[in-house]
Amino acid sequence: MTRPITLTLTRPDDWHVHLRDGIVLQDVVPHTAAQFARAIVMPNLKPPVVTIAMAAAYRERIIAAIPATMRFEPLMTLYLTDNTSPDEIRRAVDSGFVHGVKLYPAGATTNSDAGVTDIQRCMRTLEAMQDTGLPLLIHGEVTEHSVDIFDREAVFIDRILQPLRKSLPALRVVFEHITTKDAADYVRDAEGDMAATITAHHLMYNRNAIFQGGIRPHYYCLPVLKREPHRQALVAAAISGNPRFFLGTDSAPHPKGLKEHACGCAGCYTALHAMELYAEVFEQAAALDKLEGFASFFGADFYRLPRNTTQGTLQQHEWVIPSELTLGDTALVPLDAGRILRWKFSG
Ligand code: NCD
Ligand code: ZN
Repeated sequence: MTRPITLTLTRPDDWHVHLRDGIVLQDVVPHTAAQFARAIVMPNLKPPVVTIAMAAAYRERIIAAIPATMRFEPLMTLYLTDNTSPDEIRRAVDSGFVHGVKLYPAGATTNSDAGVTDIQRCMRTLEAMQDTGLPLLIHGEVTEHSVDIFDREAVFIDRILQPLRKSLPALRVVFEHITTKDAADYVRDAEGDMAATITAHHLMYNRNAIFQGGIRPHYYCLPVLKREPHRQALVAAAISGNPRFFLGTDSAPHPKGLKEHACGCAGCYTALHAMELYAEVFEQAAALDKLEGFASFFGADFYRLPRNTTQGTLQQHEWVIPSELTLGDTALVPLDAGRILRWKFSG
């Protein structure tokens, strides 16, 4: 009998995750903590995390939901609004636990109504971020309904991102959950301190997945899945070994009933099996040797944090993704529910 293959790698981090709040923290935090040493926690709560005091309190609630057997560090973010002050940025830097500020164009995605209506209103605050080196994490889509939903990321690069980076060339930027060749090319070639996170689902699927034999709400996320050449460009970026591209799951728990709905929520839940999904993508691209840099090194380097010193293992071992998980008093459907995975990760 041949022994199953085991890969050992430095424990990975998730540089973009949604954990929500309240009782559901007990259901989702253990999934992320089982795989990742640290995670950049998104601030799009209701109400959004707009002050250091709110981030500190949210951080404590997350820490309270970490099982005693696990080690996990939540890395907090602030939600940028038209009214975020430069002083709040300085307090964020001084806090030691806030590692970025998230820009949601108002109306772009889940709980983004309080987001930025016009980036010009934030210039003094963004200057403070440039001066202090605090990264700006960007949901890169324009929100105009006149722009086709599949074009909103590419249009954002031209209309918002390029001008912004021209006026603040030393601002450190993460282009979150990129979905297009346009974004991958832009990040690869941009001058200055620029990086991007890539989700497992955008590496695995193109937009056909949303319509395979009927409408499939669990494959609907924002930015929406794109055409196959875009997926291929993302895989090429992820396996390139370029440190500008690193892991961010964008795992986003929504109750089953609000996904399978006449107006279903956007978001894919991958926290349970993220490393297994990424491993499949890298294996299929014959690039498993590039997974450690992408998952465990490049994000920490960008955020100027130490790389993890403990390890995790990926074992060739088949298991079935559960059809449902618990989310408070309701159910949560993980991405690819019911499918057999080829790898099992222990962090
Ligand atoms: C995220 C969520 O549910 O909070 N949804 C998603 O589709 N990715 C928000 C976001 O990151 O856009
Ligand atoms: Zn997100």
